[in-house]
Amino acid sequence: MERMDYFLQIYGTLPRAGPGSDELTRKAFEMMSHVPESPRVLDIGCGPGMQTVELLRITTGTVVALDLFPDMIARVKAKAASAGVSDRLKTLELDMNEMDFPGASFDVIWSEGAIYFLGFEGGLRKIREFVKPGGYVAVSEAVWLRSDPPPEVIEFWKDYPEIDTVANKLVVIDRIGYEPVGHFVFPPGAWTEQYYDPMEKRIAEKEAEWKDSPDAVAVLEEARSEIATFRRNPDCFSYAFFVMRK
Ligand SMILES: C[S@@+](CC[C@H](N)C(=O)[O-])C[C@H]1O[C@@H](n2cnc3c(N)ncnc32)[C@H](O)[C@@H]1O
Repeated sequence: MERMDYFLQIYGTLPRAGPGSDELTRKAFEMMSHVPESPRVLDIGCGPGMQTVELLRITTGTVVALDLFPDMIARVKAKAASAGVSDRLKTLELDMNEMDFPGASFDVIWSEGAIYFLGFEGGLRKIREFVKPGGYVAVSEAVWLRSDPPPEVIEFWKDYPEIDTVANKLVVIDRIGYEPVGHFVFPPGAWTEQYYDPMEKRIAEKEAEWKDSPDAVAVLEEARSEIATFRRNPDCFSYAFFVMRK
């Protein structure tokens, strides 16, 4: 197996592919006070689909779940089937850079931990044309909680220039011309309950089996280090949800 296969066997098997929870998905959705009865929703970078299925549960609308990776599309389909909401799910295996929907196609565009693949500002600009006038956009994104993070935290985030303060993210939202509706920072449990706790279990399952592969050992070590950095510094960074209206 290649290093990427080991990586996917850890990160690609978790209930979520990033921080979040059904409760936070609902909290963001409830900020949108003028959503039609049965909205048409686009979920960009749906991953394993935890939030996709929650959106299908809390509305009677349809959700288009978009992801680049076939494994993720298969997981969102399976999850929707076991929740009994498949009839309102559409999936789209597509690079989000290639998105080309007709203008004003969606009442709501959702993206948890994935808009950064287009750049926070570039992504929010690109999707604006796909939202109906008066429609909503909700995205979660990495944010600094402190201005003086320790070196290990700076090192951890060094390849991710999109992390910024909540205030600076709000400036971007305003600059693009969205009406800000609300925002909130994720509590530490949103990183651990559906993400790092299951990741730790997965690491423990694979440790002995993979001990002779340097690639596998490196993947496990990276995952352990990521979790430890978060557990030592939960007051330095998090994710925040930003809800806005066109
Ligand atoms: C951090 S995960 C978040 C997944 C999910 N929203 C969640 O919160 O659990 C980012 C997702 O974006 C997908 N992704 C990455 N690059 C992409 C691209 N260029 N186009 C579409 N999806 C992409 C990945 O496959 C992954 O499922």
